[in-house]
Amino acid sequence: VCVCVCVQGLVLGVFEKEGEEDGLHLTEAAAGFDQTLSGKLSELLKISGPALKQGKSRVFYGIHKDFPCVAVVGLGKNNEGVCGKENWDTSKENIRQAVSAGCRLLQDLEVNHVEVDACGDAQSAAEGAALGLFHYDQLKSKKKTKVTTQLHGSADSASWEKGVAYAEGQNLARLLMEAPANHITPTAFANTIEEKLGPHAERVTINKRFSWIEEQQMGAFLSVSRGSEEPPVFLELHYNGSPDSKQAPLLLVGKGITFDSGGISLKPSPSMDAMRADMGGAATVCASIVTAAALKLPVNIIGLAPLCENMPSGKATKPGDVVRAKNGKTIQVDNTDAEGRLVLADALCYGHTFNPRAIVNVATLTGAMDVALGSAATGVFTNSDWLWEQLHKASVVTGDRVWRMPLFQHYTRQVTDCQLADLNNIGKYSRSGGACTAAAFLREFVTAPHWAHLDIAGVMSNKDEVPYLRKGMSGRPTRTLVEFPMATFRSPCTQTVS
Ligand code: BES
Ligand code: ZN
Ligand code: ZN
Repeated sequence: VCVCVCVQGLVLGVFEKEGEEDGLHLTEAAAGFDQTLSGKLSELLKISGPALKQGKSRVFYGIHKDFPCVAVVGLGKNNEGVCGKENWDTSKENIRQAVSAGCRLLQDLEVNHVEVDACGDAQSAAEGAALGLFHYDQLKSKKKTKVTTQLHGSADSASWEKGVAYAEGQNLARLLMEAPANHITPTAFANTIEEKLGPHAERVTINKRFSWIEEQQMGAFLSVSRGSEEPPVFLELHYNGSPDSKQAPLLLVGKGITFDSGGISLKPSPSMDAMRADMGGAATVCASIVTAAALKLPVNIIGLAPLCENMPSGKATKPGDVVRAKNGKTIQVDNTDAEGRLVLADALCYGHTFNPRAIVNVATLTGAMDVALGSAATGVFTNSDWLWEQLHKASVVTGDRVWRMPLFQHYTRQVTDCQLADLNNIGKYSRSGGACTAAAFLREFVTAPHWAHLDIAGVMSNKDEVPYLRKGMSGRPTRTLVEFPMATFRSPCTQTVS
């Protein structure tokens, strides 16, 4: 029996009425609620100010005995659907934004339990609620009100639960990215993921590797970890969800630099703290596998995360040093701050041994990606039109957004013309197009026909660009990484490869 005083809240949606300047159109749940109150809600909405615009919200108190606080949120126009210009589903984005705003208003009023209107799309509503309420305050004495949520006035609990799982996946990535680097070390990262996968042991195998890294001759990865006191970890996850155990897996690889100081090519101090999130690739990849397991998706996925710190020290790799990657290629490390491509190079080589149907690597790889697109979209560099298609379709649904970037030979020349070794880890002639140069470098370690590199440096953190994520590390594009694997199995590639 609950003995605490639980305050109940309700979030209801309203659409703008087509063709009417000030008209409102209640959702099914809101209309039902209005009816039980004999029209009180619509009356209050009329007298409390102008018609609720998209993203705006208003709270009414004491109008219903079960719900002392009712937040009404503006959903914009009904049935907007996919917007080609914005590259996302506007209806879904509006629902996420509105529900998140409503839930946060109630959270600020210290409401403990919120029932939420499906607003016509229970999954998006659940995502808006769970993403909007997330706040990293684990290390603060004073915490925000913990709010539990529940679907209201709809029978579509399956979609609601799916939305909750998607959002919880992204929130796990946000938690790992936001957490300070002295808490989320490579070892702590691996342990956290192991713990999260515990309940799914039946379909999941986990390998945490230490000395194995040397046995595998991953000289590029080890050259990055050398300067740190924290041991590097190579995390390998196998999720076997497909009824066909021999089904070729999808391979996800995430950059796992738990702190990027730049190494001997030390970064400037301002905002260096943000580099605690330089494991965003590993965080989103591993969180998406945790989510796939929780949802029991009928697919096989392998996740790889080379985890280490990039630090300066007497043992650290020095500019000009030459190291040997797992595939035998030699690399002149002219800038120790271009470390992401080094750890990924070895992980990508190793990943090929699983004969995956597709390889997707995710990395906070370059500041240049942030300069190019900012937080609007993840940059996708890929050799496969089919894979691009799958990623793009999924990102429209999730609202994460992706944008295709070029893999011209032009950029390859930047890294292959090297004085001492086969490859240079930075662009030889110019810093221009740095995100593309980095992609060209990774490509030198890929022989698979369906590979995509996602540069997430620009979307790593959120100020107020994504309205349903608070300020902080974003966990993007975790939901897209959960959404798109299903598509790769539903519409397998028919393209013949030369
Ligand atoms: N982790 C950084 C990239 C980054 C920057 C991510 C800002 C998120 C926000 C990466 O390891 C790095 O330092 N890249 C260098 C490469 C350069 C030395 C060729 C960069 O972008 O400056
Ligand atoms: Zn770096
Ligand atoms: Zn980095």
